[in-house]
Amino acid sequence: MTAPGTPVPMTARPSGPLSGTAAIPGDKSVSHRALILGALSVGETRITGPLEGEDVLHTAAAMRAFGAEVTRQAPGRWSVHGTGTGGFAEPDQVIDCGNSGTGVRLIMGAMATCPIRATFTGDASLNSRPMGRITDPLALFGAQAHGRSRGRLPMTLVGARAPVPVRYRLPVASAQVKSAVLLAGLNTPGETVVIEPTPTRDHTERMLTAFGARIRTEDTPEGRVITLTGQSELRPQRLAVPRDPSSAAFAVCAALIVPGSEVLVPGIGLNPTRGGLYETLREMGADLSFENPRDEGGEPVADLRARYSPDLRGIAVPAERAAAMIDEYPILSVVAACASGVTEMPGVSELRVKESDRIAAMAEGLSACGVTVETGPDWWQVAGRGAGGVPGGATVRTFLDHRIAMSFLCLGLAAQAPVTVDDGRAIATSFPEFGALMTGLGASLGQASA
Ligand code: S3P
Repeated sequence: MTAPGTPVPMTARPSGPLSGTAAIPGDKSVSHRALILGALSVGETRITGPLEGEDVLHTAAAMRAFGAEVTRQAPGRWSVHGTGTGGFAEPDQVIDCGNSGTGVRLIMGAMATCPIRATFTGDASLNSRPMGRITDPLALFGAQAHGRSRGRLPMTLVGARAPVPVRYRLPVASAQVKSAVLLAGLNTPGETVVIEPTPTRDHTERMLTAFGARIRTEDTPEGRVITLTGQSELRPQRLAVPRDPSSAAFAVCAALIVPGSEVLVPGIGLNPTRGGLYETLREMGADLSFENPRDEGGEPVADLRARYSPDLRGIAVPAERAAAMIDEYPILSVVAACASGVTEMPGVSELRVKESDRIAAMAEGLSACGVTVETGPDWWQVAGRGAGGVPGGATVRTFLDHRIAMSFLCLGLAAQAPVTVDDGRAIATSFPEFGALMTGLGASLGQASA
């Protein structure tokens, strides 16, 4: 979503049953990490099934700018020849990470202990997001950041020439911050330690293990302690990227709220650090079954079947589950709007610093669609209107946020009147196939003028 330009409004209309098989694209988090770790190892890493959305394409371009050879050999088949740990070359251009907080934060971590400097920028959404959360720990390694006020992009990062290892306790539950510190630790002598009071997605640790890094994780009374011994070579890998559970959530939740639906999502990633939404939906009474559980590329996967669930009930989502479903609150709030009773969502201040302020964005749009929402600094709650009870019939603002756009388009399928989003272009950052996939399942959805 880098290019400013003409917004593309999209409309979703009340739809008949959704049915069929939904081929969800590759996991965004895993795809970024596969490209970055491939770029930090010597030899060829082959990646099958990565997300080919804008966020990941920006990371691929960035890895080329740092000296890796990144080739898309065929759709869904990529190859990376890396530079080795600490081997990044200084880019001769500004690194544009588009809309992607994960991309920019992980890449800054990976270059922070290389003796080079690089300048990073992004779109209007990314350039408004806080980077102090990573530049603070990266400064402890010896890197220096020169950004705009309040630690925002565009920003130049000067890598440490003689990095020192760091012991860092995460002040926010953030896999991006954890990953930035671990990636910086790769080219640092000695042991880099990250302590996370609340476990967050652990794709970086899993993938570092697969690449042969010396890394161990211990659960202790002070939290999860991850220790990485730096300056060892990474071994290139063959990686199969699981399908993204955060993208699958849109097809699954739409099936739960559109009468008569049954949708099968094969091979979705079920990493427990990402599984909070599915646990929550089950507690709300969703008809979900996980079939054929298996392991693919170091990550647990299964086929997920979702059926229309007319008796969904609001619940209080435990605050300690937030990290395991942080990207799923927008679509959860749509399901909550179609449930009976109130859904309470405490402990979610992080939602305010995503691609948009997701509490504010969802509250504004849901209210416009006739749903009562109450919000606080780190909580919100949605008063459900029951199956078929959401009026809809509004145009909502999406604030360059793919998940806000997709959430409201799913709501439009189950509301009494169509829902229009002001701009659907951001969807291409994480799920370019969304429109075609949902239409293929039977959704009535398309450009607003169509
Ligand atoms: C991600 C971590 C999460 C998540 C983002 C992807 C990752 O962000 O919201 O979409 O791949 O590490 P935070 O680390 O800011 O919680």
